[in-house]
Amino acid sequence: MSNAKRLTSTVTSESTVRLDIEEFEIPTPGPDEVLLEVEASPINPSDLGMLLAGADVSTVSKSDTGLTLSLPEGTIDGLTGRLDVPMPVGNEGAGVVIDAGSSDEAQALQGQVVAALAGGMYATHRLVKARDCLVLEQGTEAIDAASCFVNPLTALGMTETMRLEGHSALIHTAAASNLGQMLNRICIDDGIALINIVRREEHIELLNSQGAEYVVNSSSADFRDALVAAIAESGATIGFDAVGGGELTTEVLHAMEVAANLNDGEYSRYGSTTHKQLYIYGGLDRGPTMLRRNYGMAWGVAGWLLPNFLAKIGPERSNELRQRVAAELTTTFASSYSDKVSLESVLDIDGMKNYSQMSTQGKSLVCPQL
Ligand SMILES: NC(=O)c1ccc[n+]([C@@H]2O[C@H](COP(=O)([O-])OP(=O)(O)OC[C@H]3O[C@@H](n4cnc5c(N)ncnc54)[C@H](OP(=O)(O)O)[C@@H]3O)[C@@H](O)[C@H]2O)c1
Repeated sequence: MSNAKRLTSTVTSESTVRLDIEEFEIPTPGPDEVLLEVEASPINPSDLGMLLAGADVSTVSKSDTGLTLSLPEGTIDGLTGRLDVPMPVGNEGAGVVIDAGSSDEAQALQGQVVAALAGGMYATHRLVKARDCLVLEQGTEAIDAASCFVNPLTALGMTETMRLEGHSALIHTAAASNLGQMLNRICIDDGIALINIVRREEHIELLNSQGAEYVVNSSSADFRDALVAAIAESGATIGFDAVGGGELTTEVLHAMEVAANLNDGEYSRYGSTTHKQLYIYGGLDRGPTMLRRNYGMAWGVAGWLLPNFLAKIGPERSNELRQRVAAELTTTFASSYSDKVSLESVLDIDGMKNYSQMSTQGKSLVCPQL
């Protein structure tokens, strides 16, 4: 009986990416598992990474079974681990438990709306371990719970990291993103100074209308001065950069150094002793990261990834963060979507140009039951 569907992405040895909808038998849950009828799963930048594997959307064409895209030259070397293997797509999502295994934990979820970070959520049905389900408050709609994990926990992870590493204020780039708007609300609620860096004037207004204290525009002529002034006033010494490529990383480190020197007063040829930390946590610009090293010797640049952070803080603290997300799902951690797409419309050429943009307030939601 073939009565469930899921979307797969396959990197082929011919340097192409094949997107297909695969049919499979609706599975029966094991003792500790539940079966979700998936209702909603967001298309986040990380999902686009798995779906498109870095292929350029302009190369897309129809194939017999779905779509094909070409990979840029040389990129296949980094993808050998997934060569010719159809990979399920969709990190997280929410739905209704329609079947449950025999364990008490699984049985308790029967009929409930739950969210999960299980992978393979662009599917009509998905088996999930009962212990991995986030049970939502009574009356929560699956659509409101679709983005429960990746962005909310990353935004919370930023303020946690800030505190754990002894900083008291932070800087965030691409700050009008869904995640950025969540971080802004967390910082307002928790009394943390946050400097939001955006690249469009209208996003200054957007964040100001949501109560942001510091918003600077990296495209404006006074960007450097405005950033230094905001850092000097707030005392921010840690930044989270979603852009990664280009000049922004080095600009932020330099501005932290200038602000530290303004506050320190005393000159040292080795630069300020204030440690300046920048975490690159996204790749919105895939180009090389510029580091001009005009910020003394007390600095660090590193990658930051949610699963690594959760492993570091351990299950107890991770669970506390998850519970905060569940309790503030429609306020602090609300996401906005521009449209809902079916599994079939993920394989629509015009639709792909739309959902792959990664623009502010342009996120699409996959609704496999459509
Ligand atoms: N490391 C982790 O564990 C982790 C976890 C979750 C999310 N993330 C990252 O968090 C970021 C935000 O995710 P999201 O789902 O909130 O995004 P989103 O809502 O889709 O918004 C994307 C934002 O990025 C901006 N943007 C796109 N390309 C840009 C560029 N080249 N330079 C500057 N800004 C650019 C857009 O602004 P415009 O409207 O101006 O284009 C928009 O505000 C992503 O990079 C994602 O990969 C990382």
